[in-house]
Amino acid sequence: MCSIIGYKGKNAAAPILVDSLKRMEYRGYDSVGVATFDSGNILVRKGTGKVIEVNRNLNIDQMSGKIGIGHTRWATHGGVTDKNAHPHSACKNNIAVVHNGIIENYKELKQELIEVGHTFASETDSEVIAHLLEIHFSSGNNIKQAMIDTCKRLKGNYAFVAVFQDGTICGARYEEPLVIGVANDGYFVSSDVLGFLQYTDKAIFLENGDICIVDNSKLEIFDFEGRPIAHPITQVAWELGDIDKGKYAHYTLKEINDQRLTVVHAGRQDEATMEKFCNILASAKDIYITGSGTSYHSALIFKHMLARFGKIRAETVMSSESQYALASMDSNSVLVAISQSGETADVLDSVRLAKNQGANVLSIVNVTTSSLARASDAYLSTNCGPEIGVAATKSFTGQLALIYNVTDRLCKNCLETEKAEFAVAVENIIANQASIIKVAEQMKDASDIYLLGRSLHYPIALEGALKLKELAYVHAEGIAAGELKHGPLALMEKNTFVIMINPRDATFNDTISNAHEIKARGATVIGISDRKDDVYDYWIEIPHLKEEAYYPIVEVIPLQILAYQLALAKNADPDYPRNLAKSVTVR
Ligand code: F6R
Repeated sequence: MCSIIGYKGKNAAAPILVDSLKRMEYRGYDSVGVATFDSGNILVRKGTGKVIEVNRNLNIDQMSGKIGIGHTRWATHGGVTDKNAHPHSACKNNIAVVHNGIIENYKELKQELIEVGHTFASETDSEVIAHLLEIHFSSGNNIKQAMIDTCKRLKGNYAFVAVFQDGTICGARYEEPLVIGVANDGYFVSSDVLGFLQYTDKAIFLENGDICIVDNSKLEIFDFEGRPIAHPITQVAWELGDIDKGKYAHYTLKEINDQRLTVVHAGRQDEATMEKFCNILASAKDIYITGSGTSYHSALIFKHMLARFGKIRAETVMSSESQYALASMDSNSVLVAISQSGETADVLDSVRLAKNQGANVLSIVNVTTSSLARASDAYLSTNCGPEIGVAATKSFTGQLALIYNVTDRLCKNCLETEKAEFAVAVENIIANQASIIKVAEQMKDASDIYLLGRSLHYPIALEGALKLKELAYVHAEGIAAGELKHGPLALMEKNTFVIMINPRDATFNDTISNAHEIKARGATVIGISDRKDDVYDYWIEIPHLKEEAYYPIVEVIPLQILAYQLALAKNADPDYPRNLAKSVTVR
């Protein structure tokens, strides 16, 4: 979604804001803008494109002033145009605002504002915030009251930061993240700690319904009734800010490669936290596992692992469907929420639903400072470091590594003890990519790709299809291989590509039979397997594993590489797929 940042301190604001926006650009990347305050004036520069391009065209980092706000946009209301880029001002140009979220009642508010003479410059929902602030400020010249009155009029989810014409910076949070960075020489107000971690590791996490004002270098936090609020200053791990691409051409490629280490790191957990997590899980009457996109695919694998190895029954619920599916929870239930960012709105909604019904909430997160981690009774960290590429890669295998650890504990070490084997296997796949690159060349012009797998390999078929859609913009569909005869076989013909995820386990023979049925219809069959078979037109070899439950980790990596290579072959930017954002904080 969008990223927002405000800075008030002793240094030039614009270069700091541009630097921060580059670090948070993964959140949204269709337009960029900055407003600075200097000598009583608010200056705005904004335009469409990535931070680096817009800065090159508009010299944003050379804007004057030591106070400012900035934004990268992921369009929701209003097209990708210069006018719709943030910051937005109102009629008198004495306030500028950047916003992340959706103002649900913006149409009514806009109509009301137009009726009292306001004119709008953009098609966004966000602009109403600037106009409301202007109206409420002009009626009393009181910034605090203007913030409160404005927040009370807004419906929806939002975090916004505003700069006023006296140089005051304000922020408000309602169901979108907002964090204050406390530096020696100033303050940041940001949607992500990445926005300021290169300047300070001291953070104050605002809660829903908090407003903050940074005025004359002092910070005030209060609620929508104006009552003061005190939050502790948290020291954030510097590693969270490590977002260097290193020698790699893209973050996505780096993050695929990082998996040699991250699958091992994810397994390393603080003993007490792991025990608490497993105890809550083991004592639950019923367990629901939720997540979105890739994290939902982890949820499917978790359910399978719990059933097969722990003899524990769990339900999976897509977070976006949770409002229709979680009604039967009570105080003996547990919701396990899986999320890389910990900020996905659908996931946070399911957590709220669970809590309202008295259920416990456990989570698996990568961003340990996230809203989800803070809302959980216990959380486990995937420990992957920042994942910047918009498509999830290392966070997925990190989630799986953790799921294996939890399952192993619950089943009293029933999994093969040599967990390091999948780390070696990951290394081997990454080192031998030639066969994957060959398949990518063949698939360059494919319009339909199907991925089939059974059992634990079905979620990997779904995940592989998601990667191909996101990165390579190709129609791809994951299918449970046993379902082939119930319909999808009708689609198999010359020019269709079918990837069979087929390691040497109990599913092998049945999936090979499916491969023959597909080949007989003229489709091209690609096998991802540790055993070669004549039915495959192309074979992507994966290492043989002693513990078959670990295969999903080694199966998904060739699919990530395939999607990455296909994106390159199609001149698509694998780090920033069109129309997507890393952290989906709207519904
Ligand atoms: C897929 C992808 C998305 C996310 C989904 C959930 O590559 O990145 O599908 O998995 O938006 O995000 P988190 O895990 O942050 O809740």
